[in-house]
Amino acid sequence: MAVQWYPGHMNKARRIIKESMSDVDLVIEVMDARIPFSSENPMVAELRQHRPCIKILNKSDLADPAITRTWLQYFEKEQGVKAQALSVLEKSRTKKLPALCRKMLPERGTAVKPIRIMIMGIPNVGKSTLINTLAGKTLAKVGDEPAVTKVVSSAQQRIILEGGIALSDTPGILWPKIENANSSYRLAITGAIKNTAIDYEDIALFAADYLIIAYPSVVLKRYKLKQIPKTGTQLLEDIGRKRGCLRAGGIIDLQRASEILIHEIRSGALGQLSFETPEMIAEETACRLG
Ligand code: G4P
Repeated sequence: MAVQWYPGHMNKARRIIKESMSDVDLVIEVMDARIPFSSENPMVAELRQHRPCIKILNKSDLADPAITRTWLQYFEKEQGVKAQALSVLEKSRTKKLPALCRKMLPERGTAVKPIRIMIMGIPNVGKSTLINTLAGKTLAKVGDEPAVTKVVSSAQQRIILEGGIALSDTPGILWPKIENANSSYRLAITGAIKNTAIDYEDIALFAADYLIIAYPSVVLKRYKLKQIPKTGTQLLEDIGRKRGCLRAGGIIDLQRASEILIHEIRSGALGQLSFETPEMIAEETACRLG
């Protein structure tokens, strides 16, 4: 992975977030709705302990709504967790979040006893966009390294919102789950990790293999194919042919075809797609353990 999550960085992030926790009443964990398992960080449960948590399945505008619903049910089973599908680009819905926070912590939420909130998540899931929308102004984007996280304790580092909400102005940045090879691919496909050590064609091939099985009609329609390719490589070749990605001698330029596929997935040009379901993850996890 090119995002280098050195053990030193991880430990520092964990320590700083842990220190900040004594001044936090509620945690909002932002995840990518297309890959909730891979974009979740198990450390959040350890760090938040008994504190209530809202899990935001963000970028739901890009995810398959039916699969997002199954993930919401999955997460709601966790103790003290409310799960919400959201696109934080949608300001009016996002601004309803403070009301949910007050419902979860009715004993706080006043000017004297505000609900102190920390937003957490891996890079590129939409934490800064969420903070900016709630704050109603654009705050400087923090870096993507856990090390830039700072201890949140002083009032200056909090944004005071209406209705007794105090929001940490910097998110707790955690590292993605990388113990599962499939997760690395899915994080790369969705752009959560942009510059990965995995070859672009490899990422596109993983995506193509998945799409021909999970979303065959989407593939047929988008690339105007008569029949569904049998393999991911065939799909990339079809895309190359259809989009004129040819090198000298009529050889298909698989690198360019791969870039097209990944770009179109990330931009939503293929429609709303999810790359993980709870059942899939249960199977993968069982295989790893078995
Ligand atoms: P972060 O703080 O967690 O690192 O994420 P940030 O808010 O910077 O968001 C990362 C990218 O994701 C941004 O795109 C942002 O506009 C986009 N994004 C955030 N929330 C949503 C959402 O709900 N739906 C969609 N479709 N996109 C969302 P960007 O600035 O163009 O960066 P990039 O795409 O080039 O990384």
